[in-house]
Amino acid sequence: MLVNDEFDVSIEAYSNLGKGIAKIDGQVVFVENACTEDLVKIKITDTAKNYANARVIDVIKPSEYRTEPICPLQKVCGSCQLGFIDYNYQLKLKKQFVEDAMKRIGGIDAQINDVIPSPKIKNYRQKIQYPVCQTKNSKRILAGYYKLQSHEIVNIKYCPVQPEICDEIIEFIRKNAPEYGITGYDEKRHIGDLRHIVVRGSEYSGKFLVTLVMNKSLHRFVVPLPLTREALPPHPLSLPLGEGAFAQEIFNNFDEVSGVCLNFNDKKTNVILGDKTICVAGSDYVEEKILDKIFKIGADTFFQINPKSAENIFKYVKNEVLKFDNPTVLDAYAGIATFGIIVSDISKNVVSVEENKSSIEKAKEVLRENNIENVELFAQDTVKYLKSIKRKFDITILDPPRKGCTQEVLEETLKHTSKEIIYVSCNPATLARDLKYLISKGCKVKNIQPFDMFCHTYHVETVAVVSV
Ligand SMILES: C[S@@+](CC[C@H](N)C(=O)[O-])C[C@H]1O[C@@H](n2cnc3c(N)ncnc32)[C@H](O)[C@@H]1O
Repeated sequence: MLVNDEFDVSIEAYSNLGKGIAKIDGQVVFVENACTEDLVKIKITDTAKNYANARVIDVIKPSEYRTEPICPLQKVCGSCQLGFIDYNYQLKLKKQFVEDAMKRIGGIDAQINDVIPSPKIKNYRQKIQYPVCQTKNSKRILAGYYKLQSHEIVNIKYCPVQPEICDEIIEFIRKNAPEYGITGYDEKRHIGDLRHIVVRGSEYSGKFLVTLVMNKSLHRFVVPLPLTREALPPHPLSLPLGEGAFAQEIFNNFDEVSGVCLNFNDKKTNVILGDKTICVAGSDYVEEKILDKIFKIGADTFFQINPKSAENIFKYVKNEVLKFDNPTVLDAYAGIATFGIIVSDISKNVVSVEENKSSIEKAKEVLRENNIENVELFAQDTVKYLKSIKRKFDITILDPPRKGCTQEVLEETLKHTSKEIIYVSCNPATLARDLKYLISKGCKVKNIQPFDMFCHTYHVETVAVVSV
């Protein structure tokens, strides 16, 4: 099988990375934008020792699970890999991704519950991070997601999974940034100003926090005083040119914008945000309501991108904690202590541990404003915290990043947990690996519940309840 060879194939299965699977002479071929039960003509795009990749050049007989693509750019933009597949079937596929990971990686043959759907499948995404660049000749600023498997930016003017106003805010930035002397970033040459546009929204308030990630360090920037909307001069061009004035201009133009921040990142890195963020206009957070609690989400604090679906997860975890009488709870990888604060009413006491200091600062404000006195916060690495304590918790909630937990974290968690671990995961593969380890230490998996947080993508969120 060679690159550019063409074949007619039936798609036999669907991979956890969002591609159809066909077999040619026993060899696996991953096919972009193909769905189970499609009959398609494909062209091989690259080959490896044990598999090949291909793209569809013609759909000969479409699968019954195909539907109208969610977006005209669905095939070009790499974000919504499942965006041409019926939503109910997407949920079935995601359940299968979790089942496969459990069996293949974890050796776990447990019953997996049906995926709990997202309450919203359009306009659900409340966190947008667009990389920015500029065209060579016309110097137009482009912003959008990367094309599949590339660093080529698709200039996205409309995205159906995010709130509509975000398209307008981002278009405003594209069009007006050059007037303020701001250029788009050139990743290869590490020159240019604006690297990313980050927008953080709230279902509850309908407000948006905008962050411009600049290819600069903070000391090269003269910090303007944050102004209120009322205090703005009548015409933006009477302000000095530059990113501070531009931030004010964005704030001034959109009532929906609660604040505009500048983040400084002059490193050659794929990491989006630099260490320093300043708020130039308005407030440095948006408020989001989850169940009966209001949280403050900042420019550089973690919060789930789909608050409506996240609420289902928080409810599920709270119900699990409710099965215990006034338990003590450790909330590890806490972000802005969302789980800790949600379960504080039904717990004796809670400790939330999070390494990001600004997340802990935001959590402190929420505790103060809600008079919550039984949650302690630690801005610390999880292992360091666990190694520093003697006490045990009834329940530990683990909600690590995609890479999951280290064995050291799991060992320490077992030492310090007496009844249950509730493991919240955004990566079935690392969840399966970590559950395998916990089972090898005598734990029992009681329940595995997937949630659809990232509709139309291959990502799936899962909560596993484990008794220790
Ligand atoms: C998936 S997020 C979960 C946040 C939170 N539980 C929520 O639902 O909003 C993972 C969090 O773990 C934090 N984190 C990553 N590594 C950590 C570590 N070694 N120790 C403590 N926190 C860590 C990240 O900063 C991030 O806020």
